[in-house]
Amino acid sequence: MKLKIEREVILAPLAGYTHSAFRRLCRRLGADRVYSELMNATGIIFRGEEKELAYFTDEERPIHLQLYGRNPEEIAQAAVKMVEKYRPEAIDINFGCSVKKVLKAKAAGYLLQFPEEMGRIVKETVEALKPYGVPVTAKIRLGFYEDTLEEIAENLLKAGVSAIALHPRLAKEGFSGHARWERIRDLKKIAGDVPVIGSGDVRSWREIDVKFEETGCNGVMIGRAALSNPWIFKEYKEKRDIRTGLKERVEFILEELSLMWEFFERERACKVIKAQISQIFKGIRGKAKLNDMVMRSKSCEELLSNLREVSNFGN
Ligand SMILES: Cc1cc2nc3c(=O)[nH]c(=O)nc-3n(C[C@H](O)[C@H](O)[C@H](O)COP(=O)(O)O)c2cc1C
Repeated sequence: MKLKIEREVILAPLAGYTHSAFRRLCRRLGADRVYSELMNATGIIFRGEEKELAYFTDEERPIHLQLYGRNPEEIAQAAVKMVEKYRPEAIDINFGCSVKKVLKAKAAGYLLQFPEEMGRIVKETVEALKPYGVPVTAKIRLGFYEDTLEEIAENLLKAGVSAIALHPRLAKEGFSGHARWERIRDLKKIAGDVPVIGSGDVRSWREIDVKFEETGCNGVMIGRAALSNPWIFKEYKEKRDIRTGLKERVEFILEELSLMWEFFERERACKVIKAQISQIFKGIRGKAKLNDMVMRSKSCEELLSNLREVSNFGN
């Protein structure tokens, strides 16, 4: 199935951060497309575990719901369930994550060692979603211990993948070293008319056009940089630096929190948002003290009152 992606700036999936509320705010700031964080296929089929992870609103579309798993049949079955229930624009399969839990399950990034198995998973899912007209995309790294991008790409393309997002590091590298964007250019050459999305280390809006020009890719993903500066999408769209102070950042958090309460239980949302708070205070003078004040909050009420107090410290 064809998926049209042309010069899009996309919010990368970031487990623990890119829930519906953060995605909506990034879409409002100019992100062209979003991905959910990874969800376990077995959990979805047998335990209905996706719950708030799969929650999204129309405002977030186009959205890719991301799955990971070990077994092609299970992933395909979970994909059908998600499509019937939520109707996303695409199902994405994660082949990049290499945290202990998923490696133990021999899923996600672990599968980079077995390109043919990756192909089987995509093929099975493509077949299962054909009746629904929903495309299947994949998010990959260069390989696990060694760079086997060509072999991986060949298997995914043969299986009918509709777009490939590449974070050009090895799984064993984690986040060390740097993303090798020249491999995005190589993938683009192999992929023909299947869109290629590059992901990794883009810190400022000024780098985005450079990535498009240098690699010919169809999309640039912004991950960690969006956590500390979600305005990066607006900066790119308006081609100008946007300076935000403490007040704007606290307002962003308060808005995010109020959107989170739609799908997270109130106190849980207040716990989850703390990770985002410590990111968004980056670069603000007195960050450590502000962070400390906010992190100490023991309840939602205390968090809200501390945030309001912090925001009065001025810009
Ligand atoms: C905290 C965190 C969580 C992540 N969660 C996911 C995930 O759920 N699915 C996925 O495909 N990639 C995930 N990634 C990888 C990112 O999508 C992205 O490819 C990577 O961070 C490189 O881009 P960046 O330098 O712009 O952050 C995660 C990365 C981080 C730092």
